[in-house]
Amino acid sequence: MISVKNLSKTFGSVRAVRSISFDLHDGEIVGFLGANGAGKSTTLKIMTGYISPTAGNVFFNDYNIQDHSLKIQKDIGYLPEVNPLYTEMKVYDYLQFNAEIRNIKGQNFKNAFQKVVDECGLAEVVHRTIGNCSKGFRQRIGLAAAMIHDPKILILDEPVSGLDPNQIVEIRKLIKELGKEKIVIMSSHILQEIQATVDRIIIINNGKIAADGTSDELLTDASGKTRLTMEVDNAEENTIQDMKATIPAISIRSITKNNGSKIIDLEYPKANDPRPDIFNYAVKNNWIILEMVPSKQNLEEIFRNLTKNGDSTVE
Ligand SMILES: Nc1ncnc2c1ncn2[C@@H]1O[C@H](COP(=O)(O)OP(=O)(O)OP(=O)(O)O)[C@@H](O)[C@H]1O
Ligand SMILES: [Mg+2]
Repeated sequence: MISVKNLSKTFGSVRAVRSISFDLHDGEIVGFLGANGAGKSTTLKIMTGYISPTAGNVFFNDYNIQDHSLKIQKDIGYLPEVNPLYTEMKVYDYLQFNAEIRNIKGQNFKNAFQKVVDECGLAEVVHRTIGNCSKGFRQRIGLAAAMIHDPKILILDEPVSGLDPNQIVEIRKLIKELGKEKIVIMSSHILQEIQATVDRIIIINNGKIAADGTSDELLTDASGKTRLTMEVDNAEENTIQDMKATIPAISIRSITKNNGSKIIDLEYPKANDPRPDIFNYAVKNNWIILEMVPSKQNLEEIFRNLTKNGDSTVE
């Protein structure tokens, strides 16, 4: 398990990361989502031991990254935001070079090479010069290099950025597959890029965690309220307004007329589901319920609301 505890990082007057905390558990694929400048890369760089925090720490099974970076880095595969490929090298040579840095040689290299080539689907390009590979392949090569030592944790900074839609689908599939046996955290500033890949989304804004949960949890409104839309026939406006007196948990957001019927938009706290009470109230007042559906706020809308002031990290 990885535990990020009260992490902060200041660059001069810029507070890039402000006391953030979260845990990553085995078997999780987590999306780290935030607008440009929100603090994603800074957090990921601290997690890899590449830069030190101003305050706080990151723990990997009780070892902290500041005192045990060499030990922990054996378990981490890191794909930086700018994929550091040597474009004039052949794919094979580049992977061998990355393996040698980690002291993986001889038969160990052959095994490791075969594993990453299979996992990342690189068989057709292993003897090609990196500069002649497509962007999608380059991203796979970067991933293969980051995984040559078979790390337990993959930290991927914007791994699908700049890829075309087909390449995004392919890398997404690959990351999902890798996530079956590794903890994966991947960043993005575009919701759609990661929504389909990850189990959980952590939203960072202005260096702080703005939300953390599964898509469904985030959809249950950032304020912890669920919305319900009802279409009813035979309901007078005053009996609709009076419903609040009988069922205090609800707030009526709007009542609109719709060809004789009425559409009621209301909300209630997640923990307090009043739908049976609403049904009984409707029966008592001879309403005819035509429809009753929990309406979910759009995840895109939640993300936009939570990340509105993404660029103002200076105080
Ligand atoms: N080495 C640095 N020196 C000074 N300021 C920095 C440095 N690195 C990052 N920053 C600032 O810290 C803030 C967070 O940057 P960071 O790169 O972590 O954001 P990000 O979420 O990764 O953004 P992007 O989506 O653009 O990659 C920004 O305001 C950035 O300008
Ligand atoms: Mg970044």
